[in-house]
Amino acid sequence: MGQLRANSDRPLADRVGCEPYCGANLLDRLSSSSTLEFYYRYMMAREREVVLQRVSLKTGTVLSVGCGWHPGRHLFPAPAFRLVAVDADPARVAGVESAGRADQAFVGYAGRLDLARETFDVVLYRLVLHHIVFHEPLHACFAEATRLLRPGGTLVAIEPGLWHPVGLGLALANHTGLGVAAHATPDDIPLSPRRLLGEARRAGLVPELHAVTYAWRRLVPALQRALRPLDTALGSRPRAAGFGHTLLMVARKPY
Ligand SMILES: C[S@@+](CC[C@H](N)C(=O)[O-])C[C@H]1O[C@@H](n2cnc3c(N)ncnc32)[C@H](O)[C@@H]1O
Repeated sequence: MGQLRANSDRPLADRVGCEPYCGANLLDRLSSSSTLEFYYRYMMAREREVVLQRVSLKTGTVLSVGCGWHPGRHLFPAPAFRLVAVDADPARVAGVESAGRADQAFVGYAGRLDLARETFDVVLYRLVLHHIVFHEPLHACFAEATRLLRPGGTLVAIEPGLWHPVGLGLALANHTGLGVAAHATPDDIPLSPRRLLGEARRAGLVPELHAVTYAWRRLVPALQRALRPLDTALGSRPRAAGFGHTLLMVARKPY
């Protein structure tokens, strides 16, 4: 993993969280905000569809790690779900709290959370593991999820996939040092489906993989719409799911 940094002599707060975002990047110059919005709305609906099908919970306690501004209420609505949100960035935690998007929010670091074991029905990593992997291996995040989940509980991870053409392009840009110029950050590391599944299994979970979508947020809406039938037709087939642009892994903790 070329991006991994030997930086353990820096303070912890400097070694976690997302790297700065460079607005002057190529892809953002090419994309309109309405195109991005069109995609995000669909992506959230599609995530909801898969979670509803595969996580058979009507109520429960959810821990959203790396909650950002959006801790996952679209997947686990109030008041049925109690949502606890954690992020390395105090500004995002304050934002989530003041907007009332979670029942509780605090600053904390994935893999280093001081929470009681077996207290959550769901642990959610949405678009965060692919940032964390820039700084450190993912084992601690998966081991922590297993520790915090109740028996029968579910880890839900939603991350960009490496095997999609866009994921391969991103990895190539990162590898050649063009990551920031092309797509704004150096820590946008698409994850291989095999790695996600392997990490979950090593942590004692029983995973399954789905593709949220095979489309890409930069494509014109007509093309995005044309690709949508693939998502429902192929997105939950074991051999095809791993080629999605965005992957959704559901991993259960056995009783
Ligand atoms: C791309 S945002 C995703 C936010 C949110 N989950 C969502 O789906 O919109 C990634 C978030 O992960 C947080 N983050 C990155 N590394 C972290 C870590 N090691 N521990 C906790 N949060 C982290 C960042 O501060 C950022 O808010």
